[in-house]
Formats: sequence, C-alpha cells, structure tokens
Amino acid sequence: MLQKKPTKRRAIPSSFDVIGNKDRAVAIIEVPQPLQKRKKLLADAVMLQHKNVVSVLEKASPRFGTFRTRKLKIIKGSRNTEVVHVESGCRFAVDPRNSYFSQREGTERMRVASLVKEGESVMVFFAGIGPFAIVIAKKARPRAVVGVEINPAAVKCFEKSITLNKLDNVKAVLGDVHEKSRDYHGFDRVIMPLPETSFDFIEDAKRVLRKGGVMHVYFFAREDEVKMKKKFVAEKLPGSSVQGVSRVLPYGPRIWKWRMDVATR
Ligand SMILES: C[S@@+](CC[C@H](N)C(=O)[O-])C[C@H]1O[C@@H](n2cnc3c(N)ncnc32)[C@H](O)[C@@H]1O
Repeated sequence: MLQKKPTKRRAIPSSFDVIGNKDRAVAIIEVPQPLQKRKKLLADAVMLQHKNVVSVLEKASPRFGTFRTRKLKIIKGSRNTEVVHVESGCRFAVDPRNSYFSQREGTERMRVASLVKEGESVMVFFAGIGPFAIVIAKKARPRAVVGVEINPAAVKCFEKSITLNKLDNVKAVLGDVHEKSRDYHGFDRVIMPLPETSFDFIEDAKRVLRKGGVMHVYFFAREDEVKMKKKFVAEKLPGSSVQGVSRVLPYGPRIWKWRMDVATR
C-alpha cells in the first residue's frame, strides 16, 4: 500500500516485465486503478531503478485479436519502443507495442530446443518475432528451421533477428499457417505455440510432417480437461500417439498452459 507521499522507490510495482538488454530496454507495468493518477511517479521510480529502461509502458488491455498483442500506452520515455532482447545467448528484435513476446516462456523454448536432434527440419507455426526458431537454430543443430507468422511487424523483427544471430538455416515466412504450410512437407517437427486455437491446425501440422514426425501442441486447460484433449487428438489423427503432456506455465485460476507432444503415423 502506498503512503500519502511515497518515495519513488517505494512506488515501484512489485513485479513488472523488462524487455531488452543492459543498454536499452522497455518496462511494462500494470497500474492498479487507485494509482492511475500517480502513474508518472511509478514510471519515474522504474526508470530510476533500471537505468537501461528508455520507455515505461502501461498494460492497457488484455491480449486480443489474431496477433495476440495488447494495448500498451507510453507513460514516460521514448516513442521508439523496439529493443533487442537477450535470452539464452540469443538476440531478438522486438517491439512489444506491435508484436507478441513473453520472456516468461524462455525456459520452455530451451526445453523444446533440447528435444531437437542434429539434422532435423523444424517448422514453427505462429512464429511471432521468432524466439522458438532462433533458440532452436542456435542451441540445437537443425538442418533447417522455418517460421510462419501472420503479423507483418513481427516478421520484420524475426528477419532482423536472423541477421543479428548470423543464422543461415532459418527462414521467416509471412502469412496464414493454413495457407503457407501447404508449401512444406517431410518435416521432422512442428511447434504450435498458439494455445487459444492450436487444435484447429493439427491437420496442417500432420500434412507438413513426415511419417513419425512430432508436433508440439500448446493449449490452455484445467487439469481435468487434459484427458478430453488427448481424446480429441486421437480422433482427429487416427494412429498418432501422444508421447507426453507437460505443464508449461500457470495461466489463470486452476488453468495451465500445457504442451502435448504427438507423434504422427
Ligand atoms: C501466442 S503468439 C506466439 C508467438 C511466438 N511463437 C512466441 O513464442 O513468442 C501467437 C502468434 O501467432 C500468430 N498467428 C495467429 N494466427 C495465425 C495464423 N493463422 N497464421 C500464422 N500466424 C498466426 C500471431 O500473430 C502471434 O504472433
């Protein structure tokens, strides 16, 4: 609880996201209703404590629409909110005002990268600014990685990141997965990080994969709904086998983000 005349340090929200690197970053904060009139003070406090923060942005909506972005209002600082985020030795160009990015998913990206074997071809549906594709290309030894993304601003950042990380085996494709994935076949692995609607794309993934290839399907569910999701996949993809279902991150009250690994036939 804030006192009447809070010091700037005391006013800092207890948790907020900082995206970027040690020289240039943006902070994303949630401003509770009672503190709305003092949000400039909050921004001052954040910038005082984090000298690399050039802009403080306020979460002004939940994520929405096809691009899964949210409204972010600048409370203080630069209007140029594109930064280069550093994660697991990789560099991602990202502007959180026009593209989805969550640094909380870094551990999951490394988990999936550790499953990729040398020489594999990997397709990332819903690639965003390319974090899965870049981490896999840098940390595993795939033959090729292709990411498909519908948001042009995200694809621009993805392409910048391919250059920043000096990768020659990654390709960013702009467009709808339903349409663009038709040009690709024989892949070893497909990653599907759109938990709201991934299951609508499992037939596209099946078409892209070779026999025995694996799809990683992300979804939101309560624990007691997981069985039903497995049944759905068994019915849609006869002969496929669910290799495992893992908890990824908490999402809401009793709701989790999960990853289902499915081997096709
Ligand atoms: C939850 S975000 C994940 C982005 C990225 N994979 C990451 O981990 O940061 C989902 C992404 O899917 C994209 N998207 C939504 N529908 C799509 C579609 N039909 N085809 C291609 N991309 C799509 C959105 O624009 C968004 O960038």
